Amino acid sequence: MAVITNVVYLIASVLFILGLKKLGSPKTARQGNIYSMVGMLLAIVITLLDREIIDFTYIIAGLLIGSVIGAIAAKKVEMTQMPQMVALFNGFGGIASTFVAYAEFVNTKHMVGGTDVVVSLVLSLLIGSVTFTGSMIAFMKLQGWMTGRPIVFKGQVAFNGLLLVATVVLGWMFGMDTINGQTFLLAIIAIAAVLGVTSVIPIGGADMPVVISLLNSYSGLAAAATGFVLSNNVLIISGALVGASGIILTQIMCVAMNRSLANVLFAAVGTDSGGGASGGGEQRNVTRYTADDAAMIFENSESVIIVPGYGLAVAQAQHVMNELMQLLEKRGIKVRFAIHPVAGRMPGHMNVLLAEANVSYDKLVEMEAINDDFQSTDVALVVGANDVINPAARYKKDSPLYGMPILNVDQAERVMIIKRSLAAGFAGEDNELFYDDNTMMLFGDAKKMLTDIVKILKEE
Ligand code: TAP
Repeated sequence: MAVITNVVYLIASVLFILGLKKLGSPKTARQGNIYSMVGMLLAIVITLLDREIIDFTYIIAGLLIGSVIGAIAAKKVEMTQMPQMVALFNGFGGIASTFVAYAEFVNTKHMVGGTDVVVSLVLSLLIGSVTFTGSMIAFMKLQGWMTGRPIVFKGQVAFNGLLLVATVVLGWMFGMDTINGQTFLLAIIAIAAVLGVTSVIPIGGADMPVVISLLNSYSGLAAAATGFVLSNNVLIISGALVGASGIILTQIMCVAMNRSLANVLFAAVGTDSGGGASGGGEQRNVTRYTADDAAMIFENSESVIIVPGYGLAVAQAQHVMNELMQLLEKRGIKVRFAIHPVAGRMPGHMNVLLAEANVSYDKLVEMEAINDDFQSTDVALVVGANDVINPAARYKKDSPLYGMPILNVDQAERVMIIKRSLAAGFAGEDNELFYDDNTMMLFGDAKKMLTDIVKILKEE
């Protein structure tokens, strides 16, 4: 049986790896999800068959409750709330690893002896518990249940360092006497829970998606450590895959925002989530353009680059966006979408959103590939994007956006910006582009404004 189990685990692991590979492109992402789901199903089924399970009552009850909660959550969650949901999942993954590792210790106390098991057990409790409370704080920040601003206190980094050292010392003390060391393990869980809170509260709401991706990686590491405690190969492999992919995603996001991970974790920058009012700029003159003006400009254009941003997702305007694109294309206008790597609120947010409206993938062009084309484009149509086009990123050294590569919409013949007000974007930075001579501000909800433009174009 052990051989069969390990062969099935191996097949499941291969499916996980193929699934991850396929998640690399929107075209194959669905397939990737299916591969991974089948892999997980195989792993669960063979594990249930393999162990000497006397009573399935709790297992079935757990499966049913978990599946119902998961299915309802997945159906109900808005695309813009996805980061919060991932935060919750990471947290639950972390605490599950902690519980399983601790339960294994309680069951097999007398067998815990080897340094490898001791280290794995301590790591599992430590990382799992940090992941749980850290993820809960991240969830509450993103959900608006607590302030998105950094919460800092004097000596915070040193305090966190002290907590970490304390868990290492306790882990060592446990290793000295594993049979009577239960209290040390409980203390590790408690201290790690505090560490999760104190290490996430100083991180601003704007950086939360990076932290969630990092916590995702932690939840994988906790699972892998638990895999060593249980000597379960598929848990070790899947945990390692989650750990590695989470850290790669964290790195990609840091590079896209031009920040180092240390800067995200310790610099306490970042504002409240959501576009806060900018104040300063409102005294300057801005001409209010209408849907009619926009339609007229389109009639006389040959090329349009659309820049989608967070506001497109908020307004749920992706379908009417697609309709506008098709109308423009019917008129012989070349239309493409410019995708900034951190547009929206999660990696790939715009790709997923536009895929939902069946915009074909070849219309979506990454920032590096399209940025030079703005200068030869008639209209840059910005829909609910702000930070990713803010020129302050190029020169304003004290701006949270400084250094982040932006889409060069200001190089287009004309810039049309659809948003509801002059409010700042996620980073809280004013955008001078709104006041430029060749910028047309179209104030209003993205869905309403695009619907109006579509209506006019259809009538013409
Ligand atoms: P933002 O800078 O957040 O700007 C979005 C704009 O959409 C707001 O200024 C808002 O202006 C407008 N808006 C909101 N609701 C709207 C509606 N119903 N209709 C029309 N407009 C609406 O978005 P962005 O340009 O996509 O930039 C993303 C930001 O999030 C960046 O700062 C990025 O660093 C940060 N971030 C992203 C990620 C990932 S992975 N995507 C991760 C971490 C951080 P009004 O209120 O005036 O309408």
